[in-house]
Amino acid sequence: MQDVTGLPFMRVVARRGSPDFFFTEFIRVHAHSRVSPEILSSITEKPDGRPVFAQLIGENLDDLRRVAREMNSYPISGLDLNLGCPAPRVYRKNVGGGLLREPEKIRKIIEVLGEETKFLLSVKMRIGFEDDRYFEPILEILAESPVGLVSIHARTVKGGYKSAPSYAHVEKAVGLLRCPVLLNGSVETGAQALSLRQKTGAHGIMIGRSAIRNPWIFQQIRDLQSARKIFQPKLGDLFDYFEDLYASLEKPGMREESMVGRMKKFLNFVGLSVDPEGEFLFRMRRAKNRADLFQVCERFMLNEGRVEEHYSLEPFDHSTSSGTSAHR
Ligand SMILES: Cc1cc2nc3c(=O)[nH]c(=O)nc-3n(C[C@H](O)[C@H](O)[C@H](O)COP(=O)(O)O)c2cc1C
Repeated sequence: MQDVTGLPFMRVVARRGSPDFFFTEFIRVHAHSRVSPEILSSITEKPDGRPVFAQLIGENLDDLRRVAREMNSYPISGLDLNLGCPAPRVYRKNVGGGLLREPEKIRKIIEVLGEETKFLLSVKMRIGFEDDRYFEPILEILAESPVGLVSIHARTVKGGYKSAPSYAHVEKAVGLLRCPVLLNGSVETGAQALSLRQKTGAHGIMIGRSAIRNPWIFQQIRDLQSARKIFQPKLGDLFDYFEDLYASLEKPGMREESMVGRMKKFLNFVGLSVDPEGEFLFRMRRAKNRADLFQVCERFMLNEGRVEEHYSLEPFDHSTSSGTSAHR
């Protein structure tokens, strides 16, 4: 996730139980694009030794060819094409989710990436742009291509992040494709992950926002799979997570104000789980420095015996946690 799943966040999650593999934030591909050192570090450092897929977003065949070749010299486990980004400034350039209106263009891009990459080629897609009219034609293109993994965010581009996910589309993809399919979209608990995998036949589950709200989710899925007692974080654990995140995100010379701004991007996803009334969100958004921010966290997570209270992970409405301006 752009601006989120960089190396520091991956490491913080890895300390609480890694996913089986990670995807990088998207790498913009255009005439003058360069792969950022930050994204490259998430590939070369491989948190917890887990495989990392590098995700590209772009549409120009020559530029995609160039970057696919460049990525061959890095230790990635797969090269992923973004066919889902719903930001208007992105899809208007016909990249990300915008490409879902042009199946033939997708065919050409995949051909080029398939020719160039020496790694597994994968695709992350939504079920369509405005509707699902091209969903099956695109799956047919993928079925005939070298693509070896497809992740499906079960919404249209126009459906943003709030519309009801259509997991039936994932089931359809599982039936039509021979490669593994990952189900994505509003999976919030380990139990939900396992039941959706069983219901749809998906080979795996991709988790985005819930990993910010609950970085223990991958461990909880493993606990469930092996019939172990599920790790239930307390509010004190949540506080430790934020301290770890702050320390991991901090870079030498970074202004405290910018650091606090970065932290708020994460806390926006967590806020209503800490306090459904919204007071935590309200106060945290007004914090100007580290001391203010952690004072608010202490009040809601440590004081008056809260440290031992369970952190409630009941499903909630993600649409209220859109604190970042750059949802993809
Ligand atoms: C802040 C943010 C950044 C995102 N950046 C990317 C991205 O770079 N590439 C991508 O494929 N999806 C991106 N997504 C979409 C997520 O990968 C995922 O498809 C979507 O949030 C639905 O899954 P979830 O409900 O598990 O979060 C982003 C989502 C968010 C909220």
